[in-house]
Amino acid sequence: MAMRVMGFAGSLRQGSYNRAALRAATELLPGGVEMESFDLAPIPIYNDDVRARGFPESVVEFRNGIARADALLIVTPEYNYSTSGVLKNAIDWASRPPEQPFKGKPIAIMGASPGALGSARAQYHLRQMFIFLNAHVLNQPEVMIAQSHQKFDEQGNLKDADTRERIRALLQALLEWTTKLRGSASVT
Ligand code: FNR
Repeated sequence: MAMRVMGFAGSLRQGSYNRAALRAATELLPGGVEMESFDLAPIPIYNDDVRARGFPESVVEFRNGIARADALLIVTPEYNYSTSGVLKNAIDWASRPPEQPFKGKPIAIMGASPGALGSARAQYHLRQMFIFLNAHVLNQPEVMIAQSHQKFDEQGNLKDADTRERIRALLQALLEWTTKLRGSASVT
């Protein structure tokens, strides 16, 4: 049976390196893996009064997509040494009860930034959130796409061969991690 991955990127802009990295990942999937990309743009700013009246439709779709997926691929930009508000906001919505869907979910993280550390600080903040949410975040390989402006062409194609190889390795490791967790009684 194919493994279904849901991928999402924490940037909304058209020319986003992180969205481009997510597109590249869909081209680099190992055999037996399918990817659905989820667009975070329709998700509103979190308001607990709204949540108390019922999740907005876009949030329902996001939560259902996470629940359905065998694994997640999260692509984060770095804003002020952390993840973007767009991504944090979406995670906050999805994390609310009942049945928060990150629990037990295998997750791979990667990210891109024009800076020297390629979103490393943002990625470690994301990992911290998923301790509370009890997800199973893959440790390695880490994919930090530094100097992202030199790694993509004008159309947003990932042209850097080493980065393509790292993403390929990340997806292969996610497949193996998910398979391993499925066989373990501790999953769910
Ligand atoms: C940034 N940027 C940035 N880069 C970085 O490496 N570390 C940082 O702390 C920050 N901080 C930051 C804050 C804010 C508010 C913005 C708008 C930007 C630069 C950022 O990495 C760059 O704009 C990326 O291109 C954003 O990702 P996308 O949109 O290309 O996916």
